[in-house]
Amino acid sequence: MSSRTPLIAGNWKMNKTIAEAEEFISGLLPHVFAADGVDIGICPPVTALQAMVDSARGSAVRVYAQNMHQADSGAFTGEVSAAMLTELEIQGVVLGHSERRELFGETDKALALKVPKALEAGLEPILCVGEAEEERERGDTERKLRHQIQEGLAKVADDRLADVVIAYEPIWAIGTGLTATPEQAQEACAFVRALVAQRSDDAAQRLRVLYGGSMKPDNAAELLALPDVDGGLVGGASLDPASFAAIVEAAGA
Ligand code: 13P
Repeated sequence: MSSRTPLIAGNWKMNKTIAEAEEFISGLLPHVFAADGVDIGICPPVTALQAMVDSARGSAVRVYAQNMHQADSGAFTGEVSAAMLTELEIQGVVLGHSERRELFGETDKALALKVPKALEAGLEPILCVGEAEEERERGDTERKLRHQIQEGLAKVADDRLADVVIAYEPIWAIGTGLTATPEQAQEACAFVRALVAQRSDDAAQRLRVLYGGSMKPDNAAELLALPDVDGGLVGGASLDPASFAAIVEAAGA
């Protein structure tokens, strides 16, 4: 049994107005009031961050942003900086989600700056990695993960590596209803940990690796029981308080 505390984080993507987010959190809090031995996170859109910090204050629920720019300030229309996020008293930030990589041109080069920037600011980065269907079919899964992780962590000092959370999200499983098999999830998450071990064995043992991609109440327990899966980054199933709470419960069991 690993000593890593599981993290279940709900990535809402571009869903929920402030009013809808408030409705969600009032529905969720009674379910997770007594949650023990599991960290719980929600990743609302930037407009609802402040409201969720206020509403979740004093509870077990942490609030994460979905993106952050690497610069301190400047002419970057539409972007938010680390200081703008820490001012809201949020706990962390998702970085390098495949949707940002595919649809908004997020690069490994930018992520190499974003991850240490988040750490420096006191934000817990959740660095997302994962292969596309064609890459898996070609046998390139490990090559893709190696590249994304080496680049994303290149400027993180060895003694901060364990403070990064890595989310393995196979692109073909995101929003498709297709979930990686337990064997596929375990193999990839163990590989991610082995890559970190090439930098620091100690960090690799402490670092949390999450699985993401169509995680639902009915498949969560099986995935979360895998030795190298330390939680989940949940999309669709995190939008409903009862289904999200059921996944949190599966992690705590
Ligand atoms: P789904 O759970 O909707 O497949 O999304 C996963 C995801 O992208 C979480 O970041």
